[in-house]
Amino acid sequence: MTLTPDEIRADLTHDQLRQLVGLVEYDAAGDVFPVTGWDAIVFVVGNATQAAHYYQSAWGMELVAYAGPETGQRDHKSFVLKSGSITFVLNGAVDPDSALADHHRRHGDGVVDIALEVPDVDRCIAHARSVGARVVREPEDVTDEHGTVRVAAIATYGETVHTLVDRSRYDGPYLPGYEPRSGGWVARDGQPRRIFQALDHVVGNVELGHMDEWVDFYNRVMGFVNMAEFVGDDIATDYSALMSKVVANGNHRVKFPLNEPAVAKKRSQIDEYLEFYRGAGAQHLAVATGDILASVDALRANGVEFLNTPDSYYEDPELRARIGEVRAPIEELQKRGILVDRDEDGYLLQIFTKPLGDRPTVFFELIERHGSLGFGKGNFKALFEAIEREQDKRGNL
Ligand SMILES: [Fe+2]
Repeated sequence: MTLTPDEIRADLTHDQLRQLVGLVEYDAAGDVFPVTGWDAIVFVVGNATQAAHYYQSAWGMELVAYAGPETGQRDHKSFVLKSGSITFVLNGAVDPDSALADHHRRHGDGVVDIALEVPDVDRCIAHARSVGARVVREPEDVTDEHGTVRVAAIATYGETVHTLVDRSRYDGPYLPGYEPRSGGWVARDGQPRRIFQALDHVVGNVELGHMDEWVDFYNRVMGFVNMAEFVGDDIATDYSALMSKVVANGNHRVKFPLNEPAVAKKRSQIDEYLEFYRGAGAQHLAVATGDILASVDALRANGVEFLNTPDSYYEDPELRARIGEVRAPIEELQKRGILVDRDEDGYLLQIFTKPLGDRPTVFFELIERHGSLGFGKGNFKALFEAIEREQDKRGNL
């Protein structure tokens, strides 16, 4: 399997990616909608100028490109940042009358576009249209002095879209219209060169009763395969519940867990998200690291806040027996609140941040995989109880 140009630029190898994000071999020949991998995650934020600083200073990302009024893009500023093989784009309205400002007023900070790299934009769009997907941008060539990209977009849940990008004939820093830009931020001595190397999965929250519809969308429109599902007791606490199914593209670079709330005694975190995001949207982004202990230390030193894991989690004999030997002493994990899960393929370490913005919506997960291709099923209950404590503090439980 080939590496993407971004993976090559990030010095990532095939073996590292298999470990980091669970990359698998597959035969693209029979794929109705071949996807190479992530292109970029595009956010709308209330203040892109400051958010660009936050992603550099707190998350160790590198600013690589910019577009805005100074480059002829009048209505919004757009900052492009990279960490390893993944690109984030932060858009903030300059013109108060822009559609982007309206979007932010309604949804707050969030993900508007989960852009994917594809080898053949036209083939994907033709297939998507033939099975009833909504095409929101027809295929077109966009050109500047760095070459040409072919782009198109289809709608997914809520107001989220998937832009499809073929950048095989382009060597600019991001897309035509963007100019190279570097930041003045210098990381502390001792901070890892990168806090995360790749994107593992993006979770979508959809309305009650709609999860299967979106699983079907990804199966039918994008040829994604089903990986795992979590229903009933797997992910219920005494108070709240949700259901989750996971779809992935052929090579598993792109994985989309899809959650819907389930009826329970109190409001679940999914209900809270849907209320404050005003509908379906991307809930969390899991970023992959090869050293979660160093990453968490760096992030905490930079002021990033994580959900607390109770000491009882680590003292539970059942958990200790289930996880067995992992690469770090359990006391080191406990000190940092890192969760562990094991399945038949191996284990994973993970931790979740508090919501990144003002609304209780989007948050991040850090994940370090050791063979496991799962999503931390064994931790769902402990995690949800931690989230419920935060929900309760906000008066939303
Ligand atoms: Fe996750």
